[in-house]
Amino acid sequence: MSRINIIWPRRFLSSQKIRGGYYTPRILADYLCRWAICSRSDRIIEPSCGDGSFVSAAAPLLGEKGLITAIEIAPREIEKAKKAVNGSRVPTEWKCGSFFDVVTPLLKGRKYDVAVGNPPFIRFQYFDRQERDRAFHLVNSFGYRPTGLANAWITFVQLSAELLRDGGRLAMVVPAELLQVKYAAELRYRLPMMFEDVYIVAFDELVFPGIQQEVVLLLAKGRRRYSGNCGRLHTWQVANGEALLAHSAMSEVVIRNRWFDVPSVAVPDAFLFRQIHKAPLLVANHAGATSTDTIHRVRIRGDVDRDRLCASMVNSLTFVWAEVCGRSYGGGVLELDPREAENLFVPYRFTGGLDVDFIDARLRAGDMKAALDHGDDILLRRGCGLSKTDVRRAREGWDRLRQRRQRRRHGARMAA
Ligand SMILES: C[S@@+](CC[C@H](N)C(=O)[O-])C[C@H]1O[C@@H](n2cnc3c(N)ncnc32)[C@H](O)[C@@H]1O
Repeated sequence: MSRINIIWPRRFLSSQKIRGGYYTPRILADYLCRWAICSRSDRIIEPSCGDGSFVSAAAPLLGEKGLITAIEIAPREIEKAKKAVNGSRVPTEWKCGSFFDVVTPLLKGRKYDVAVGNPPFIRFQYFDRQERDRAFHLVNSFGYRPTGLANAWITFVQLSAELLRDGGRLAMVVPAELLQVKYAAELRYRLPMMFEDVYIVAFDELVFPGIQQEVVLLLAKGRRRYSGNCGRLHTWQVANGEALLAHSAMSEVVIRNRWFDVPSVAVPDAFLFRQIHKAPLLVANHAGATSTDTIHRVRIRGDVDRDRLCASMVNSLTFVWAEVCGRSYGGGVLELDPREAENLFVPYRFTGGLDVDFIDARLRAGDMKAALDHGDDILLRRGCGLSKTDVRRAREGWDRLRQRRQRRRHGARMAA
């Protein structure tokens, strides 16, 4: 199947979108600043301050010995930020320009205690070449290897972390892509190496009016230079703005070998929906049908029984894994691109006792629970040797992530 990546030419995008100018609600900036700022003499860096949401949240927490360094590329916005903290006695350095220009001398200077902000979500394709090279050169010097598909927010987080002293804290609003996309893999790996504790807080509902981009809070404390030890990673779920915290059940999932491939042949062995409402189902192509690329056409390699493979998808671990590695947009749909589909975990090897006809019949009758109970029992409990508790956690994890995604339909309608 051909992969089409639509990149809108710059001229079709609003200037707000080009500079990633979507601001943080004050309540969120207050929360992050209160978490990150521990002393009235803390030195704070805000790498893209916009109209000053974080700067005005930080100022009341600091005294005359504190410092805020606020950077912003848009002159009109930085003027608004200055007005927002007019009258504050906290020393504030205003730097109007690109973070990638301003940051070099800061990296050589005295380190900061705290980095806060909400970095711009801008694909590097929209950058002019020189600025992109400058950004890449900077992160390269700290050992990162970004790809052309990377997004600016990643480099803002990476460089802000480099500006911190040992023991420093970082509190930022970042795209939920942190948890999913390939270009963020390097950051995902390095965060627990750079900090003793990393907390990721996800929301049940979108928190930014007017944008579809899902966000999470990234809170990290105990900055340390590379020790070779991995810090602690905590993930939390917040429902409806309340601090209803739930620890993620899924801490470790093993990705198995690829069991199927997505080639560009006309008549596939099976279909996998690309846009999913409830759960990813693999449908055996007994009819010899073909499809457009709105559905993944799947070819099964080697000595694999097609019907058994389709039935093996019906288990809580595959379902929760799809929620974790797929993308979910404002409309509540889960989307799996070809690469994410290829990486789905399918416990096919252990299918002895799996009743394929039963699973098929229950799914056709709309009885997902019965099909899933059977799949979990045979594939996960007997086949993979998972405990009852592990299986229950996988099921609960799937329920929670799916419901959270589906609730976003409501949030997107309100934002529209
Ligand atoms: C998502 S907004 C967040 C603004 C503010 N931190 C907040 O949370 O409300 C991102 C900001 O980054 C600014 N920005 C975009 N590119 C930048 C760059 N290269 N250097 C500094 N700021 C930049 C945008 O103008 C925008 O104000």
